[in-house]
Amino acid sequence: MKISIIGAGNVGSTLAMRIAQEDLGNIALIDIAPGLAAAKQFDIDDSRNILKADFNIKGSENIGDIHGSQIVVITAGLTRKPGMTREDLLLKNAQIIKNLSLEIKNSAPKAIVIVVTNPLDSMTYLCLKTTLFKSSHVFGMGASLDAARFANLISQELKVASSDIEAMVIGSHGETMLVLPRFTNIKETTLDKTTTSSKVEELVKRTKLRGQEIVSLLGSGSAYFAPSASIAELIRAIHFNQKRTLPVSAYLNGEYGIKDLCIGVPCVIGENGIEEIIELNLHSHEKAELQKSSLSLAEINKRIVN
Ligand code: NAI
Ligand code: 2OP
Repeated sequence: MKISIIGAGNVGSTLAMRIAQEDLGNIALIDIAPGLAAAKQFDIDDSRNILKADFNIKGSENIGDIHGSQIVVITAGLTRKPGMTREDLLLKNAQIIKNLSLEIKNSAPKAIVIVVTNPLDSMTYLCLKTTLFKSSHVFGMGASLDAARFANLISQELKVASSDIEAMVIGSHGETMLVLPRFTNIKETTLDKTTTSSKVEELVKRTKLRGQEIVSLLGSGSAYFAPSASIAELIRAIHFNQKRTLPVSAYLNGEYGIKDLCIGVPCVIGENGIEEIIELNLHSHEKAELQKSSLSLAEINKRIVN
């Protein structure tokens, strides 16, 4: 399997190392910055003898190297610099995603595309609308990371093994994400049944702020270890046709009463990408929150897709 990663920054290069270590496929690592992807390739290559692994990776500035990929991951983009507004960032990343989507359409027309660049749900929508790929083949990674963060915080707070927790977060990968204690399983029960509502509320709040907490501590850049682990989880689900149920930013066409946008919902992921969109039986207040999340996304989408 050929897996291309566009953007050899923190997330892209950490992902490349994971794919190499797990021997999930041949890797093309692309970055616009001169020498960067080649340098990351050499560095990853140099671990081959230590790991006793025979992975294959090529790093370059040449987008044509994605040719024939089965999976393309987009981790290319700008992060917000001093003086840059959110709107500037949105428009600049939209231009990058649009150009890259056209390249993917030409060079890897059969690929399953996993979008990672922020703002995640809008960039996924833009990629889908530009490639015109089927909607099962373009989705965004964000909600599964948020769910992993929620599970981790629950595990630490309740002193339960992380592997005994299956958390669920839907909605946009941003301030309006919808953390769902009712659909978060801990062994045989759910979080809302085992924990006081004030503790649940605190865990939900900490989950929503987790990305920002890491950004503040880092000083520059954002999280990349857990993000690359979340992308690798999706790649494994495709590669081994695992039919895993994971929340991803998926194109909705009436599901959850939402039309024509990409937003985080649980989906079955297998060799065909999104194989099923699962509709959770939401309470009315949860539905209202998801609607709120989708309305703010629809506004952003209008500014980048015409
Ligand atoms: P980074 O700044 O370390 O890397 C981004 C790389 O993209 C840079 O090396 C840059 O040269 C490259 N790039 C820019 N334009 C390009 C183009 N046209 N073609 C090829 N490469 C290009 O950033 P990092 O930390 O790797 O994050 C990447 C993106 O992923 C950001 O937008 C970030 O906000 C997002 N992100 C999303 C997450 C999610 O859960 N969806 C989690 C973590 C990060
Ligand atoms: C995160 O949640 C920046 O989207 C990224 O850490």
